[in-house]
Amino acid sequence: MTGPDGTWLARALELAARGGRATAPNPRVGALVVKDGRVVGEGWHRACGGPHAEAFALDAAGEAARGATLYSSLEPCPHEGRQPPCVARIVRAGVARTVIGLADPDPKVAGEGIAALRRAGIEVELAAGPAAEAAERLLDDYLVHRRQGRALAALKVAATLDGFIADRDGASRWVTGESARTAGRALRARYGAILVGAGTVLADDPQLRLPEDDAGGPFRRCVVDGRLSIPAAARLLAGAQDGDAVLVYASPDADPVRRAALERAGAEVVALGPPGGPVPPAAILRDLAGRGILGVLIEGGGVTHGHFLAAGLAARLHWFVAPRLLADPAARPAAAGSPRRLEGAWEGAFAEVTRLGEDLLLTLTPRGA
Ligand SMILES: NC(=O)c1ccc[n+]([C@@H]2O[C@H](COP(=O)([O-])OP(=O)(O)OC[C@H]3O[C@@H](n4cnc5c(N)ncnc54)[C@H](OP(=O)(O)O)[C@@H]3O)[C@@H](O)[C@H]2O)c1
Repeated sequence: MTGPDGTWLARALELAARGGRATAPNPRVGALVVKDGRVVGEGWHRACGGPHAEAFALDAAGEAARGATLYSSLEPCPHEGRQPPCVARIVRAGVARTVIGLADPDPKVAGEGIAALRRAGIEVELAAGPAAEAAERLLDDYLVHRRQGRALAALKVAATLDGFIADRDGASRWVTGESARTAGRALRARYGAILVGAGTVLADDPQLRLPEDDAGGPFRRCVVDGRLSIPAAARLLAGAQDGDAVLVYASPDADPVRRAALERAGAEVVALGPPGGPVPPAAILRDLAGRGILGVLIEGGGVTHGHFLAAGLAARLHWFVAPRLLADPAARPAAAGSPRRLEGAWEGAFAEVTRLGEDLLLTLTPRGA
């Protein structure tokens, strides 16, 4: 899709991105109404349960929507939910044409929005090629949630050039510099949850705080701790609020006394997988999806990352690299796993490379994704 349609659809995606994580489990959606080459109304979905992007854009356009083109990053909904159906609103407004970034895989929509618009005599164009790919990228977590019933897993790492996240006894505090760490905290705000392994809680006692300028939205802190070895005094638990309990994923045979102590301290312990075995990463992602979380940022350590990589569930990597070499084989690797050959290595593609002070941020997606 090129020319004005491509430009206006790109604007709809920009608007959609403003929804951040606040729309979950709804998708981020942006829309605008264009008449005679001029924008007469625009809007985005701001929060789950609130008005949809199309309603904001049509309200702003008013009578000017008659005979205009509506651009929407996602297929408009044909059904009544907490909000009235967007298709009926578009028809009533007298829109002549719609351009849509992506068909909605949600079973309640699934092409019926497009079909209903066409039945009402409205011309519909569905994006293809790079415009459709950009719409998919914006909603990659929503697509995984609706198509696979899982939260999307993104791995975040701060590593030395030789791939270590801490020195051999875990005494190191920061691998990267100030601007990379600020960018790391900002990343948290994009996801509905953060997850760390028990080893990281024991070594660093992190609070996993959101950035101060966070725009808000549902957010859960999570730990994977098969044997429930984190202390009830962990700072992470002390910060838990009512209705925002820290989720601790454990094996079903974890010690019930430890479980009760963590629950008293504000955790919700979720037992998953086989007794004694590692908690299956896919089960964690299904549990998070069931709680309406679209995406989770997995902040390490290496053992936890290794489990998600081995399960083939790392959909995105945010890899901060410091210009330092540890050159110590006993240091902590960014991703621990079992011995393998290069042919069996995880392979990705660099989607973005950003310089942050002295450090780099590499963003990768799995090859072929
Ligand atoms: N630079 C960075 O980006 C960064 C980020 C995070 C951490 N770190 C550093 O990394 C070190 C900790 O890393 P780590 O690799 O040793 O530990 P980790 O990944 O934080 O925690 C590993 C432990 O968590 C539990 N666990 C993880 N996945 C599990 C699963 N699927 N099922 C059941 N239990 C699971 C296990 O506990 P049990 O063995 O008790 O079952 C496992 O031993 C610390 O030094 C920390 O400072 C650095």
